[in-house]
Amino acid sequence: MIHARIIGTGSSAPKKVLTNHDLERMVETSDAWIMERTGIKERRVVERGQTTSDLAYEAAHRAIKAAGITAQDLDLIVVGTLTPDTAMPSLGCVLQARLHAKKAAAFDVYAACSGFLYGLSIADAFIRSGMHETILVVGAESLSRFTDWEDRTTCVLFGDGAGAIVVQRHAGKRGILSTHIHSDGSLGDLLHLPGGGASHPPTHDTVAKRMHFIKMKGNETFKVAVRALEDVVQETLDHNKVKPEDIDLLVPHQANLRIIQAMAKRLNMSMDKVVLTIHKYGNTSAASIPMALDEAVRDGRIRENSLILLEAFGGGLTWASALIRW
Ligand code: ACO
Repeated sequence: MIHARIIGTGSSAPKKVLTNHDLERMVETSDAWIMERTGIKERRVVERGQTTSDLAYEAAHRAIKAAGITAQDLDLIVVGTLTPDTAMPSLGCVLQARLHAKKAAAFDVYAACSGFLYGLSIADAFIRSGMHETILVVGAESLSRFTDWEDRTTCVLFGDGAGAIVVQRHAGKRGILSTHIHSDGSLGDLLHLPGGGASHPPTHDTVAKRMHFIKMKGNETFKVAVRALEDVVQETLDHNKVKPEDIDLLVPHQANLRIIQAMAKRLNMSMDKVVLTIHKYGNTSAASIPMALDEAVRDGRIRENSLILLEAFGGGLTWASALIRW
């Protein structure tokens, strides 16, 4: 049986740390509120001149090294991001050039926080179809560039970073067992970035109205997220005929500790089977799952044959999951 197997992981975070106490000096908020409502203690932010492709390159380089291949072996690069360096060329193409991955086609997937899992599902399908052999999947974001640092309801949530994996065709039982992707565009206004696109190209007016920053109706998004994630997790378990107790590790998107705890409770899973990075990185959107995966691989929590459940929810609205036999 042909599977797409993850053969290497890597991640990268900017050096600059922004703590909750730093934010207390910027907006009316408190470390206690942020910790209690989100589980975030600090996040990393890019410095002047640093870009999403810098983070993506570092994460990709580490994943390629861990996989024991070279960039020239890649035949496809898929990047989940909502904060590429430029609208054109894509971050995938910028990365392809920096890696000298001459054989690889490259493109971006635009599914906000679900971007990495959407990319993973594309890689899985392309490998199983026989179209590609070795694929780099990246989640990379510089959300701090699109964060309104005067809006306390969003600026405490986001952080920057990148994670990457190399996926390769494998004749055997290990690898990606299934992926599940969903969208509900009718709820797009709950979480959006209104300025800069074709409907509101950048003008002095759009800048004055702060339209180039992420807006979120947090409380409503929260409720949809919990319901959608419960459904997609159940769909994944049913599809693979596995029980919650079969799962060795949950690697969730890191948007809010309370959402993650709700998922663990639903799966009747103790929190020590859940990979958490939210306290130190905040919500890094498409980067959060591959960053958490890389951490769990490198510290030995993910081992050969571990059964790993991934799930994410984000703007669009979009949500997704994947089950992997490592
Ligand atoms: N500091 C202090 N008070 C605050 C802050 C803050 N930073 N932010 C909001 N408040 C206040 C609000 O003004 C409100 O005050 P009021 O009661 O006087 O009106 C009160 O705190 C409660 O606000 P809520 O929005 O109801 O707080 P909630 O408990 O819902 O937490 C949060 C907000 C953390 C945003 C939560 O709703 C959440 O995590 N939502 C889901 C996020 C998510 O999953 N997004 C999808 C992925 S992101 C992506 O795709 C890019």
